[in-house]
Amino acid sequence: MNSAAYAHHLASLQQRAEDALARCGFDALLIASGIEKYAFLDDRPYLFAPNPHFKHWLPLTQHPNSWLLIRPGQQKPLLVYYQPDDYWHVPPSAPSGFWVEHFEIRIISTPDEARQHLPLQLAAAGRLAIIGEADAALEGLVPNNPAALLNLLHYARGCKTEYELTQMRAASARAVRAHVAARQAFLAGASEAQIHAAYLAASGHTDRDLPYGNIVALNEHGAVLHYQYQDLTPPTQSRSLLIDAGAQVAGYAADITRSWSAGDADFDALLAAMESAQLALVGEVRAGVDYRDIHLSTHARIASILKTLGIVKAMSEEAMLAERITSTFMPHGIGHLLGLQVHDVGGFMADETGALAPKPEGHPYLRLTRTLQPGMAVTIEPGLYFIPTLLKALRAGPHAGAVNWGLVEHLSRYGGVRIEDDVVCRAAGAPPENLTRDAFAALG
Ligand code: GLY
Ligand code: MN
Ligand code: MN
Repeated sequence: MNSAAYAHHLASLQQRAEDALARCGFDALLIASGIEKYAFLDDRPYLFAPNPHFKHWLPLTQHPNSWLLIRPGQQKPLLVYYQPDDYWHVPPSAPSGFWVEHFEIRIISTPDEARQHLPLQLAAAGRLAIIGEADAALEGLVPNNPAALLNLLHYARGCKTEYELTQMRAASARAVRAHVAARQAFLAGASEAQIHAAYLAASGHTDRDLPYGNIVALNEHGAVLHYQYQDLTPPTQSRSLLIDAGAQVAGYAADITRSWSAGDADFDALLAAMESAQLALVGEVRAGVDYRDIHLSTHARIASILKTLGIVKAMSEEAMLAERITSTFMPHGIGHLLGLQVHDVGGFMADETGALAPKPEGHPYLRLTRTLQPGMAVTIEPGLYFIPTLLKALRAGPHAGAVNWGLVEHLSRYGGVRIEDDVVCRAAGAPPENLTRDAFAALG
């Protein structure tokens, strides 16, 4: 990692924190890394999910019970680093790596020891902003999560620093290697579970490391937007694969979907049409563009595809939009902010005060309604699916006659198509950076 880029990243975060503290009337900012959580009546912990505010500063993702204190002025942030003497589990190793020199570090071996290093008096006086989950609290250090301060930080987090983009480029590179392996496994007739295993092996991740559970959907399963299972045995015929799978680097996520075909004229025509629509939509990621307009543009493009391919025949594209026919085939948003969280926070903020930018009428599942700014990382993930429950409603409604049900029935055997890239908005006038396509191109 380029140390200068990291130093610059930290300086940006320090500036944002100092500004937010001053505006919200606090003297310092304390961030809890989080705690391990346990299954009800059990002694098995769930996978640890760190506080994203903590990993914004530090590439540490497996570090419960640690704390980060940011004090305005020139001092380095104070990291209270939990390293228990534990022979049941592997404790965090001694601090090492490019980040260490930028922090004042105190090692603790029990969670409560953190109190010895943190400003209890400031907390008692109500001068300490503490970001964390309620159950990360220690005596005298109870997270207060001031809403105004969180709004300022969440709004700013939409735009990535160069350090963050470097991590996200690396996450995309890691994921696309695995996507290539998954496609090969699909073409060789592997089951969903085997495709998933091929993906993991090529990514160098285990399930624990993935930013979200892989969606590995053969044939009709591609119609389930967040299909969560993996069949152990292959279907008799593998016609299509929809795989939505990511990777992580230093706590930053890639979120990538590819749809593959084993060969069929109608499905391949749909794939080709979706590929060109997706590329055109990526091209719309420009500074100053309202992301809601990209979502609405998606629906116009879906209407055009439905018409051109003859899936919906006796209806104009305008009428399809007016009657919301396109939502039967694309019932999710065009994408979302991406970064420390797969669905990164702050997607609905009109400004840094926390005012909401509403979703367009009739589009309840859009997760990003902001105007794009340079440095924002978003996904562009149009889909076109044959979802039985939504098709049933269309068939029972007044527009059933406009649909070529024979073609719908044929394409339903392929489930659907989704193509998802991770895209960075650049300076006004410049085309976007496509992290995903650049990573595929780099594979040669
Ligand atoms: N992988 C979930 C999504 O694409 O939003
Ligand atoms: Mn996504
Ligand atoms: Mn995805």
